Amino acid sequence: LQDTQLGKKPREGFSSSVGVIAATLGSAVGLGNIWKFPYVTGQNGGAAFILIYLIAALLISAPIMLSELMIGRKTHANAVGAFKTLAKHEPWFLVGVSGVISSFLIMAFYSCVAGWVFSYVFKAVAGTIESTSPQQTFAVFQTLVNGVGEPLFWQLFVLAFTGTIIMAGVSKGIERVTKALMPILFVLLLIVDIRSLTLPGASQGLKFLFQPDFSKISISVILAALGLAFFKLSVGMGTMTTYGSYMGENENLPKTVLTVMLSDTLVSIMAGIAIFPAVYAFGFKPDAGPSLLFITIPTVFSSMPFGRFFMILFFILVAVAATGAILSLLEVPVAYIVEEYKISRRMATLGTIMAIALVGSTATLSTTLLSQMHIFGKNFFDLYDFVTSNILLPLGGIFFAIFVGWRWGFEDMFEVFSNHGRLKNEGLARIYFILVKFFAPVAIALVLLTGLGFIQF
Ligand code: PFF
Repeated sequence: LQDTQLGKKPREGFSSSVGVIAATLGSAVGLGNIWKFPYVTGQNGGAAFILIYLIAALLISAPIMLSELMIGRKTHANAVGAFKTLAKHEPWFLVGVSGVISSFLIMAFYSCVAGWVFSYVFKAVAGTIESTSPQQTFAVFQTLVNGVGEPLFWQLFVLAFTGTIIMAGVSKGIERVTKALMPILFVLLLIVDIRSLTLPGASQGLKFLFQPDFSKISISVILAALGLAFFKLSVGMGTMTTYGSYMGENENLPKTVLTVMLSDTLVSIMAGIAIFPAVYAFGFKPDAGPSLLFITIPTVFSSMPFGRFFMILFFILVAVAATGAILSLLEVPVAYIVEEYKISRRMATLGTIMAIALVGSTATLSTTLLSQMHIFGKNFFDLYDFVTSNILLPLGGIFFAIFVGWRWGFEDMFEVFSNHGRLKNEGLARIYFILVKFFAPVAIALVLLTGLGFIQF
């Protein structure tokens, strides 16, 4: 437990290194690993894309993640409070404010999709999505997303579920739950992987996922890899600052970042192995996003022996992945409200989930009741996704990098990087510093401007 600026009350934190990894990995692993990474990889050159992704993650996302963790651990404060501590009376706290807003907006649409996933766990158990006809699974999905009461109920369910864990606290809630869930996730993935790989005709799917095709690599594919690496590792919005604030002085932060990044990529690849061999084995074509997860997957599982069993496992594992990600998203505004406004954790959580339920309902209803409402030509769901992924996260990332590289400076940064000189990692620190000072801001600015259509390749 660390003392805080709050005064007498000791501030809660993660209680062990295993807990640190579980919570941080829990944040990174999410819906992104299952419906985004595998498909984007298959489409963009397989193993060649994975290589590009790893380079982007290693040279850009991981350094930003490390910057956030260090800013958090140095100050032991929430995303806004951290900047207020490090740069008093300077506008840097706005980076934290942008993070609080981003986490809020991401939750608005993420909790909607997570709600669909939770409802599919129950549908899988009940057998209502068991059908080998894509038309039929399509109809079930349409009924869900075109409904009003059902998707709203499941969104509220997800918020109440994750809110209850957040209320329990950092070590008793987030840490305890993610420590239990992460191993379950790995085991479930492994079981579904083995099932998928042992189906006749599985090799076609492996080819889709892995066959390296360097001719597919273009500037826009590199930029896609970078954007993905950002969302995947939950950086640019204060999540990692907040989690870093709960880490003790002995945690080796560079090592934590590397472990989380590599494990997260492993989960993505394992998700691809769970999905594509099975999809090809039954003669389907891989599809992106919602239709892959909610239409193709149920059809594929329904086609195999013991399909219902594996389908239940699969949706539980997706629900588990989404849970860890939402916990980290929720913690950003909750920590901010608790510390900056001195409101109890319980009330702060309650207020936050109620506000997200309100804003999130506009995402959930964006294809039905609110389908006529468009802002910048986008419905609410797409708007929240676009504003966060394409604008706020990259902007946040640039500012985290610039803060460390240009405002904090090497000496102060290295104090935190090396655990007050106890770790002998100055060489690594120098490389990291060059990356955040020069390379990352320029590379992210490129992604930002391309995403907004200012640069075209
Ligand atoms: N990393 C999560 C995923 O890949 O699904 C998404 C996410 C979680 C983004 C938490 C941002 C965040 F703060």
